[in-house]
Amino acid sequence: MTGIRGKVIAITGASSGIGAATAIHLAERGALLVLGARREDRLGAVVDAITANGGAATGVLVDVTRREDLRRLVDTAVDRYGRLDVLVSNAGTMAVSPFDDLRQDDWDAMVATHVTGLLNGIGAALPVFRRQRSGHFVNVGSTAAHVVKSPQAVYAATKTAVKVLTEGLRQEAGPDLRVTLVSPGFTDTEGVGKGAGPELAAAMIAQRDEIAMPPGAVASAIAYAVEQPEGVDVGEIVVRPTAQS
Ligand SMILES: NC(=O)c1ccc[n+]([C@@H]2O[C@H](COP(=O)([O-])OP(=O)(O)OC[C@H]3O[C@@H](n4cnc5c(N)ncnc54)[C@H](OP(=O)(O)O)[C@@H]3O)[C@@H](O)[C@H]2O)c1
Repeated sequence: MTGIRGKVIAITGASSGIGAATAIHLAERGALLVLGARREDRLGAVVDAITANGGAATGVLVDVTRREDLRRLVDTAVDRYGRLDVLVSNAGTMAVSPFDDLRQDDWDAMVATHVTGLLNGIGAALPVFRRQRSGHFVNVGSTAAHVVKSPQAVYAATKTAVKVLTEGLRQEAGPDLRVTLVSPGFTDTEGVGKGAGPELAAAMIAQRDEIAMPPGAVASAIAYAVEQPEGVDVGEIVVRPTAQS
């Protein structure tokens, strides 16, 4: 299947930011969305915005750190539409901090969300994709995996893991599946600075407001990878603001 219209696309972290913008962008192009996140009200608002505009979207409460939640997301797509064409693994947390702050719960959350969460998505969708003999993994990484900036080491390490897992998966995918890494730079979302200490959060938000690109720029990059003809795999897209060093 070429293009976006009619594709069944599941997105994690769809309740705000890049995930919500991607859901809206793909819905406007005729995709059938199954959207996952933890905050019911915010997820419901994205689903309502899409359906009010004539699009198709279903919300599923998903914590990506839980295997069974990813299975439920994938099962919802298969039960409702008979298949899953694309899984966008986007859920993330940018609770960056210097090592000396010892915010170990935040370190754990980044590992659990970006690494275990991605693996949970692969574990849930891969058997479906193999059975269908088609499917597309789109994983959201970060430019932090290209240029490590202090104090983002733990975040950058988990996003480097996303990059490595994506490339390994691509090599094992075979001729029927597609695997794409989309690596955004600074993007104007509520996630920037969330969970960071007050001083660092303020600095990140100030920089975001000065140079960040809109989340729609990342949504367009994801759509570009999805709409390619069968047999054409976009390996990686790095998209960042021109002002980002
Ligand atoms: N903004 C940037 O500058 C930037 C740059 C590079 C990469 N990224 C990446 O882009 C992705 C999206 O981030 P964003 O900027 O759009 O921030 P955001 O607005 O905070 O979005 C993060 C999304 O992930 C969800 N999420 C977090 N933990 C989750 C979990 N355990 N289970 C399920 N969903 C979870 C959140 O929903 P709930 O809280 O409702 O669960 C939310 O929908 C992340 O992977 C981030 O690392 C962002």
